[in-house]
Amino acid sequence: MKLFRSRLLPRTLFFRSLLIVITPVVVLQALVAFIFLNWHWEAVTNRLAEAVASEIAFTLDVMDTQPGEDTAQVMAIASKNTHLKFELMPDEKMGRNDPRRQTILSRMIGSAVKRSLPYPARVQLGRKEKTYEIDVMTPRGLLHVTVPERRVFTVSTYSFIIWFSVAAFLLLTISILFLRGQVRPIRRLAEAAEAFGSGVEKSFKVEGAREVRRAGNAFLVMRDRIRRQIAQRTEMLAGVSHDLRTPLTRMKLQLAMMKDKGTDELKSDVTEMEAMIDAYLQFARGEGEETATEIHLNELIAQLAKDAERMSDKNIDLKLIPARATVRPHALRRALDNLVQNALRYATQCGITLERTDEHIHLFIDDNGPGIPESAREDVFRPFFRLEESRNAASGGIGLGLAIARDIILAHGGEIELQDSPMGGLRCAVKLPTST
Ligand SMILES: Nc1ncnc2c1ncn2[C@@H]1O[C@H](COP(=O)(O)OP(=O)(O)OP(=O)(O)O)[C@@H](O)[C@H]1O
Ligand SMILES: [Mg+2]
Repeated sequence: MKLFRSRLLPRTLFFRSLLIVITPVVVLQALVAFIFLNWHWEAVTNRLAEAVASEIAFTLDVMDTQPGEDTAQVMAIASKNTHLKFELMPDEKMGRNDPRRQTILSRMIGSAVKRSLPYPARVQLGRKEKTYEIDVMTPRGLLHVTVPERRVFTVSTYSFIIWFSVAAFLLLTISILFLRGQVRPIRRLAEAAEAFGSGVEKSFKVEGAREVRRAGNAFLVMRDRIRRQIAQRTEMLAGVSHDLRTPLTRMKLQLAMMKDKGTDELKSDVTEMEAMIDAYLQFARGEGEETATEIHLNELIAQLAKDAERMSDKNIDLKLIPARATVRPHALRRALDNLVQNALRYATQCGITLERTDEHIHLFIDDNGPGIPESAREDVFRPFFRLEESRNAASGGIGLGLAIARDIILAHGGEIELQDSPMGGLRCAVKLPTST
């Protein structure tokens, strides 16, 4: 059943619905056609064959009971009224049956003739097109009857099949037109949700059947709420960071003017706080107003790597392929920058690999550093979580890098996962959708 569901069912809602509409009709038609052909057709053909046989029997009887009459005249009258052609050949004998001239119809006529006539008879396909020949061995000689096909063949079979096909075709056309209209609103809703998930602005109008409209309305309400929340968070973070900057700058100034020896630690604390506030602001800006555009992702990465190499004097090993993607370039660059900066900070070598499939772009940032133990791989994404206990600037930042990176990548409809790297350290595996 599972196999049936996964392999044989079409993937799209449109084709599935079409299948649901069409299958019962096709099954019903097949059943009716089968019954019709097996039963009705046979019955009608038998009747027709019997009619022909009894006309022959009648003609023979007339010939027998009125021996005085001119047999030729009887046959002429019979031929005229029955569309059968009678010929009497006194010297002929009945030939052998030719198996190549046997059909279902000739066999059916044969059995009807045998039932009605007292003499041996043989039926086969006529030499002339669309005729059958019946030979009857009468005491007067061989009676040769030519039967036009239309006397024994019911054309209704053909018209039946043609009308069936026409009906099926009409039904298919109507269902396609109707279903297209029903599936379109669902597809639009899916596209709108996908676009929103990837941070792309896309207009959406509620339409379609009542259930679809409900889902659409629910989506719109949800989208507005999420937008409001993001805006609120951004504003608050930006506000708090900005407000803290002023007193901090004052503190820095005062510290600089103090001549005491013990101010060094205080100074480094203030520097760290400043860095934290910068990071807050960066975090807040991550959700900013930037709009998505289609860019060459490989070019963005190459540029990012070049800048990072210049700043760190370390080499970054690039394995890139051309790949276009619709992203918010500044935000995405910030996210990838954080991952690369981590690699450069905690390791000595760094590699970036870009791959793509039809639906996704895969990006691997590898390093040869100490890596992150499996148990901590979820924790490091939490803001301010750091593996080393010390929080001073020399050994690293403040623990926002991965949180920001994940935030941005998720907002692009992507995913990020930490794995073991083939280079020995940490691998950050980033997956982004190719379009929307
Ligand atoms: N490539 C890596 N190799 C080993 N450990 C890593 C790597 N990247 C991150 N980590 C660990 O995960 C922690 C969290 O990383 P994250 O980037 O969020 O913060 P950070 O680098 O400490 O500071 P920030 O990036 O905010 O300047 C780091 O403190 C570090 O312990
Ligand atoms: Mg970092």
